[in-house]
Amino acid sequence: MKHLVDTLRATHHLDSGGYKTLLSSHDREGITYLHQQARQVAVSGFGHGIYVRGLIELTNVCRNDCLYCGIRRSNRAVERYCLTTAQVLQCCRQGYELGFRTFVLQGGELPRHRAPWLVELVREIRAMWHDCAITLSLGEWPGDVYRQLHQAGADRYLLRHETRNAAHYAMLHPAEMKLENRLRCLDRLKSLGFQVGTGIMVGSPGQSLDNIVEDIEYIEQLAPHMIGLGPFLPQHDTPLGNHAPGSSDLTTRLYSIFRLMFPKVLIPSTTALNTLCPGDGRLMGIMAGANVVMPNLSPASVRDSYALYDGKASSNAESAEGIKQLEQQLSTIGYHINWGRGDYND
Ligand code: 5AD
Repeated sequence: MKHLVDTLRATHHLDSGGYKTLLSSHDREGITYLHQQARQVAVSGFGHGIYVRGLIELTNVCRNDCLYCGIRRSNRAVERYCLTTAQVLQCCRQGYELGFRTFVLQGGELPRHRAPWLVELVREIRAMWHDCAITLSLGEWPGDVYRQLHQAGADRYLLRHETRNAAHYAMLHPAEMKLENRLRCLDRLKSLGFQVGTGIMVGSPGQSLDNIVEDIEYIEQLAPHMIGLGPFLPQHDTPLGNHAPGSSDLTTRLYSIFRLMFPKVLIPSTTALNTLCPGDGRLMGIMAGANVVMPNLSPASVRDSYALYDGKASSNAESAEGIKQLEQQLSTIGYHINWGRGDYND
């Protein structure tokens, strides 16, 4: 296994058998070595600074019906909300005062007629905070909507492909959703000039190791600027609510593999990992080569409604207190917050 890790670090590539071995090996020493090498690469590229992104959960209204997701349109048990422009601007204002220089607007897929509102919202944020990056994570939209969002001032877009295998994609999504369309959206976002992020849920129902290798190879070819990975976590009101959660071991191995593959890529240590491993998930991610965390800036009143999965952790970053806690937690492993915008640099 060490030999594979060295090859991946030196050449940023393995054949599919190599990736599979890194994912499946029981060699504990080898796994420790994988994480250690990935961490070294992260530290030589970014020092001990961890970028923070202020996450604003814009809405849990969704026209989509993904079988794993708690805010799928068929879930009647969830109370729907959509923040107002004024509420979003207030979140940004608070976030800016705390020091955040990236805002991530994440939400369900709003009805198509709300596109002009989204574009206007981006324009307003851009006008008020020139020095901040605006990241969107709002799902699939026609190319011209993506173009308008980009022209309005959005810099980055997160859209996980979820799985590169069409049969697996069909197990996780309703028939009207197509993998091809998701991949086309990613290509469009990239050609429009967005910094693009993609990724998967680790351990989603029906996922095999071969599927994950397909995902690695897809991501290798897309060469995104950001890679988001979290364990699958069941949500009790969804059709996949009885499945077992994904594993933190596999999730962190993937952080390390992608760090070695793409030394400069931005990899968040995700809320889902921190939910699966309360207390130390975030640090485990960083120890495996992640270099971003995304604290929640959403108003406290809507947090419970943005329930993608059960038990979702929301770090108390809305207060200066929460940030202090994060600083404190990072310092226990010799890291600190980097308050820069943290754009992808070649
Ligand atoms: N478990 C883990 N992650 C989930 N997401 C949605 N539902 C779940 C779940 N049950 C992730 C998807 C989506 C992102 C916003 O949240 O990967 O892209």
